[in-house]
Amino acid sequence: MLIRRPDDIPSRDITPEGLYLGRREWLTAAGISLSALAPLTLAGCTKAEAKADELPQDDKQTPYDVATSYNNYYEFGTGKEDPKKYAGALTTDPWSVEVEGEVARPGIIPLEDLLKGLPTVERVYRHRCVEAWSMVIPWNGILLKDLIAKLAPTSQAKFVEFTTLNRPKEMIGQRGPGLPWPYVEALRMDEAMHPLSMLSTGIYGRTMPNQNGAPLRLVVPWKYGFKGGKAIVKMRFTREMPRTTWNRVLPGEYGFYANVNPEVDHPRWSQARERRVGDFLKRPTLMFNGYADQVASLYSGMDLRRNF
Ligand code: MTE
Repeated sequence: MLIRRPDDIPSRDITPEGLYLGRREWLTAAGISLSALAPLTLAGCTKAEAKADELPQDDKQTPYDVATSYNNYYEFGTGKEDPKKYAGALTTDPWSVEVEGEVARPGIIPLEDLLKGLPTVERVYRHRCVEAWSMVIPWNGILLKDLIAKLAPTSQAKFVEFTTLNRPKEMIGQRGPGLPWPYVEALRMDEAMHPLSMLSTGIYGRTMPNQNGAPLRLVVPWKYGFKGGKAIVKMRFTREMPRTTWNRVLPGEYGFYANVNPEVDHPRWSQARERRVGDFLKRPTLMFNGYADQVASLYSGMDLRRNF
């Protein structure tokens, strides 16, 4: 990205470890018992899908205040604190999503109708930014595969493209030079249909804050965070691989696949290790961000050094 190198994270951005709450501790603090949550977490999930929620002990949840005040959302500026500072200006209601391309029922669909009837899930995922920082975030929302099944793409659909909001009046970062707007991301159809892929409407059991992508954003936990387009206004089913924002701007640095891969360095820094925001020491980066068991088969036979 056009941004600071991973080692440039100033110490004021590092949260003391003592501030962390684990999932169980957080639930207790929020007055929620695990048994009460189980039906919500498992709604619409098979047992294998529910495995996504089981993180190792040292994967403590990032505190809410940290997850909502340190991220990239260039529509509001290039600084990590800009999204929190400026995203309050965004109106997210009413909201609709245009559905087009290789799909049975194209049209402009109000968000409530788009989500109607789909089971909601809560998933705690590792979240790895391409800049080598990471977090652990509980997401609420729906499984992307459930929405795609409802929209009924044709057999010709090979990819799904997500276009995000272009509204300079409310998005200060869209008023000057910057990225080509709107921000666009895309997935291959089998990636989109994978049971880990979500469209999220909230975090930590709360409504999605504007700075984190309200009212609807993509979450694909085995990929670098830039795949997660925020404030989605259009889904287009295509035959051809769509052009995506960072791949267009810097193709040598950001591939279409963007799978977390400790063996393929970014041209300007190593991807072998990452700093969990709040930790002092770095930790090894895991292949596919720790989700290899679930997703490696999607890429069998592909050279991941070329298809980065
Ligand atoms: N979505 C939009 N609309 N605009 C953006 O600038 N930045 C991406 C992604 N989604 C971005 C976006 C990048 S570069 C990253 S790393 C993640 O959002 C970071 O935000 P997150 O931690 O909330 O996922």
